Amino acid sequence: MLIHNSERFIVNNEFAKDVERGLDDKRKHISPKFFYDKKGSKLFEEICQQPEYYLNRTESQILKNSVNEILKIIGEDKISLVELGNGNSLKTRILLGPLLARLKNISYFPIDVSLKMLKKSIVDLFREYANLKIYGVCSDYVTGLVRINEFIKFKKNVPKRKFIIFLGSSIGNFDPKEALIFLRSIVRYVRKDDLLLIGIDLEKDKSILDRAYNDKNGVTAKFNINLLSRINEELDGEFNVSNFEHKSFYNANKHRIEMHLISKLDQEVRIGSIGKTFYFKKDETIHTENSYKYSLGRLNNLVRTSGLQIVRNFVDPNKQYSLVLLKKIPNTAKS
Ligand code: AVI
Repeated sequence: MLIHNSERFIVNNEFAKDVERGLDDKRKHISPKFFYDKKGSKLFEEICQQPEYYLNRTESQILKNSVNEILKIIGEDKISLVELGNGNSLKTRILLGPLLARLKNISYFPIDVSLKMLKKSIVDLFREYANLKIYGVCSDYVTGLVRINEFIKFKKNVPKRKFIIFLGSSIGNFDPKEALIFLRSIVRYVRKDDLLLIGIDLEKDKSILDRAYNDKNGVTAKFNINLLSRINEELDGEFNVSNFEHKSFYNANKHRIEMHLISKLDQEVRIGSIGKTFYFKKDETIHTENSYKYSLGRLNNLVRTSGLQIVRNFVDPNKQYSLVLLKKIPNTAKS
């Protein structure tokens, strides 16, 4: 069942606007949210399988090791599991099995902007978990939460208490200010007995980070370059993709991986849908992504200033990645 829908055509319009604004800027950039067309989503899944990209593997392992403790903390026998950006729900399955085995009443609300992804993952999950009630929500995360709160308020037999999960270190793709604004807006729709589980990649040796975003098989490079192919396909662009190369490195001062596309030569590229030609000097870059890495101190600070407190921080033995279980700070709780 889908309780909210988004309008597809707005997305393409938004893509054209973002590309135009970004390529007109003195320092060119394009938002990383446009990586995920069909091919980009597949490439991202492939990235997660690369030996150098430890994030996905480490998060799954922490989740497996901590699921029993998480269940103890949940304590009750009913919960509404809300997932922000479920993708293919692979990691969700690590939670769903034990949750369904122990709790009596679970409803699952995946929220995703991609209707296609959402439909596919719902169909797959229905096949695997016949007893699970699934309510797909196609929208941005905050709107999705608002809709879910309205829905569970009036629907009988749907647990009122929420367990919200935001996995994959997607929060790292926001800059710290945006992350704070995002978490604060989520907190507005969280009850005082709700729980939140967020995956965050931790700061570590530069060489490990550089390798994770420059895998030997060149999958991350393809993922980055695919952004230009997407402009060609969807916005009638004329990029010769072989005239650009992938570059990614850890910027320790800013605590972030930066991903860029570097122009190999002086060139001009027309983008038909925008009706403009853009100029690129040799070595000029298009900044396509930041992926912030947190120290435990900065993570604490982000959480606290968002109006949240740590219930339990699950970290792997090598201190590479954190899966942090949170709840609302009581004196900021309205509900
Ligand atoms: C989705 N996100 C958390 C990934 C990351 O690591 O920042 C996207 C990615 N970019 C390159 N590799 C993976």
